[in-house]
Amino acid sequence: MYNKVQETVEFLKNKVENRPKIAIILGSGLGDLVDFVENKKIIPYEEIPNFPVSTVKGHAGQLVFGQINGVEVLVMKGRFHYYEGYDMKVVTYPQYVFKAFGIEKMVVSNAAGGINKEFNPGTLMLITDHINSFGTNPLIGKNDEKFGPRFPDLSEAYNKGLIESAKKVANKLGIEYKEGVYAGVTGPSYETGAEIKMFSLVGASAVGMSTVPEVIVANYLGIKVLGISCITNMATGIATKPHSHEEVVHIAKVAGAQFCNWVAETISEIA
Ligand code: 6GU
Repeated sequence: MYNKVQETVEFLKNKVENRPKIAIILGSGLGDLVDFVENKKIIPYEEIPNFPVSTVKGHAGQLVFGQINGVEVLVMKGRFHYYEGYDMKVVTYPQYVFKAFGIEKMVVSNAAGGINKEFNPGTLMLITDHINSFGTNPLIGKNDEKFGPRFPDLSEAYNKGLIESAKKVANKLGIEYKEGVYAGVTGPSYETGAEIKMFSLVGASAVGMSTVPEVIVANYLGIKVLGISCITNMATGIATKPHSHEEVVHIAKVAGAQFCNWVAETISEIA
């Protein structure tokens, strides 16, 4: 693993001169943030040694280097989901690469189903914490102390300082947001009504099929995390009609404008 990561990082460092300290992971339909990146250097995942390749519609797989508001960033457009059949070490491979590349902060976004009845489709939710319902953990297996501790602490899985910065920026820009707990599940089937009732009772405000593995590994590696969910539809039993992936991508695109402004300005704030 360590050598594979080194090989990937060496390739990237030879490919670009950029040395960002902030990485941004774009969720389904939130890819327009790439338009905010100046002096783009785009590297398709296929060209990157040891990098997996993503398979879902609306997830073009590429790393984008450049600047947002003059701040160096590394943008991941398209991520690897557990439901695609990748193992957890593959899903979280980019975080190991981030760390070895020098990334210190990670902004992670996703499209999520709304559980809190006050969240309408289009709501942006700052993730304050998560519930890992994947039934597994990306750190299972022999631990390599070169990366991080055997039993990593997750008491600030979503960094309080970064959350405060994001709130300050939202207030300045007049961007409406909510805060809540993200429940991460494997998918690919959406939840049953009973499952959503359970998540609601245990305090989750949103549900989705990503983020949790990446956030666990980022914390393990000592990367600080800021998480934002875009509520694209209401979860099962709260919604009045069946789910559609097209609807998810459509709403994410509409709410995406606010999302982009918010993230772009937050990058300046946290740099
Ligand atoms: Cl309702 N559930 C899950 N698991 N992921 C989603 C979603 C729902 N809506 C968008 N992503």
